Order: sequence, then structure tokens, then C-alpha cells
Amino acid sequence: MDVYEKRKEVRRKLRKLEGLPTLPPIVQKLNVMIEDETVSINQIAEVIEKDQVITSKVLRLANSAFYGFPKKVSTVQNALMLLGINVVKILITTSSIFEILHKEDVGLWEHSIGVAACTRIIAEKIELKEPQEIATAGLLHDLGRVIERVAFKEDYEKIAKMVEAGEDHIEAEKKVLGIDHAEMGAYLMRQWNLPDRLIESVDAHHELKRAKKFKREAAAIHLADVIIHARGYGETILKKVPPLDEKVFKILKFDIWEVKEILKVLEPRLYELKFFTEELIRESEST
Ligand SMILES: [Fe+2]
Ligand SMILES: [Fe+2]
Repeated sequence: MDVYEKRKEVRRKLRKLEGLPTLPPIVQKLNVMIEDETVSINQIAEVIEKDQVITSKVLRLANSAFYGFPKKVSTVQNALMLLGINVVKILITTSSIFEILHKEDVGLWEHSIGVAACTRIIAEKIELKEPQEIATAGLLHDLGRVIERVAFKEDYEKIAKMVEAGEDHIEAEKKVLGIDHAEMGAYLMRQWNLPDRLIESVDAHHELKRAKKFKREAAAIHLADVIIHARGYGETILKKVPPLDEKVFKILKFDIWEVKEILKVLEPRLYELKFFTEELIRESEST
């Protein structure tokens, strides 16, 4: 099969969600409720609270250090107010993906929450609106890699070998799958009806020129990704720090030395997140 055919096959599989974790039915319901302007936050909270497993997942992520809220988020209503309905929806939508991540690929999970934490700090620094939403895009930025792992196992292994032999990871993905993980993640996010702002910034996180409307969001995630790799937090199939697009500083309008300030805020959060991950793993081992 040539690359073009392969690409078609990958997209077809994604469209049909073949081999991918199924979305909890509550997501469908939430989609309808969010569209309906007469529905209040309380009503949405009530629906979510009926599902205890989902409620505990949402609260746990809301309380983790990557959002860095000083006070405890104790109820779904609280979470909805602080994070916004979209973020809560994303956390629910992707909870099954997160589960696979921290169970099977701790390194990529740690990398993802590290990037989320760092994206949040950058987003706040450059005053992006709804920084928690962009932090959540940071959490999802390598979603395509998780898909490769669960739905395209053999191809994933092939790519990993090529990367180990020194090939650029994006090129390797394009050669094997006809599509890279950034585009793949964005494609699935579109299927899930997530906001364009998140889709575009995930799509462009390795190639900023792919961003049209949301350049600053994409740049925030791109820089966070590089920082977290350089800091050595978590582990991905990349053996080296991905290349930094120098345009990033121009887009974000800050100097390279300001990265130091980001690191200062980031470090204690990463420390806390380490415990968070260890706790999750212990729990999943005992169930
Ligand atoms: Fe990536
Ligand atoms: Fe990444």
C-alpha cells in the first residue's frame, strides 16, 4: 500500500473510530445541553454528578497541579465555573484516553500533563483568554501518538524504530502512516466536536505555519512542548528535544530570557504532578 492509500485508510479508521476507545454516552448528552442556551450550569452539573466515576475523574484533574488553582475544586459545579463547560467536556471526552495513557504509557502521560502545566503558565503570561482551555489542549497535544499506539500498533512500532535510528519523528510518521500525530489528533478532536481553537493549536504544535486563526495558542503549546522535553519531564518516543521554531518568540512577544520566569513557576507544579501520577498508577494497579 502506498502512503496515499495508507493515509486514506487511517482517516477512514478515525472516522469510524475503529479500534479507539468509545466515548462515554454522557458526552452526547452534554453536547446537546451545551448547544441549548436555556440549560443552566446547575442542570449540566446534575447530569455529570449522576455518573460517579466521571465525576471523580473530572474533579481529580481539576485539582491537579496543571491548572494550579489555589483552592480545592470540590464540586462539579465548581469545576464548571472555574474551568468552563468546554474544558469539563474535554476532560470527560478524553477520560478514556487518559486512562490508557497513564496505564500503558506513563512516560507520554507525564509528558502530556507537563506540557499542560507549562502551556497554562505561558497562556497566563501572554494573557490568552481562557488559559485553562489552552492548558487542556496542551494535555491533548500528542493525542495522535496515543491513537497510533492503540489503533495502529504495528505502524507505531515501525515509527519508533525509525526514530531510534535517527529519523525525524514527523517524517517517519508521514512515511509510515501518511499523516503525522498532530494532524491525526486534530482529526479525531474534530470528530469529537471539540472547539476549533483547540483543534487548530494541536494540529500546529510542531509546525506553527499550520495555524491560521490561533497562532498564539499553537505557539504556547509548541514552546511548552520544547520546554518539557528539554527539562526531561516524562518520556516520549523522541530521544531528543524537538526543534524549536524561532518564530515562537515573535508570536508570543517575549524574549528568550523570559523562559526562566516560566521555569520558576513550572518547577513546583511538576513536582506536585509527579505525586499525582504516582497515585493514579497505584490506583490503576489495584483495580
Ligand atoms: Fe507532538
Ligand atoms: Fe509532545
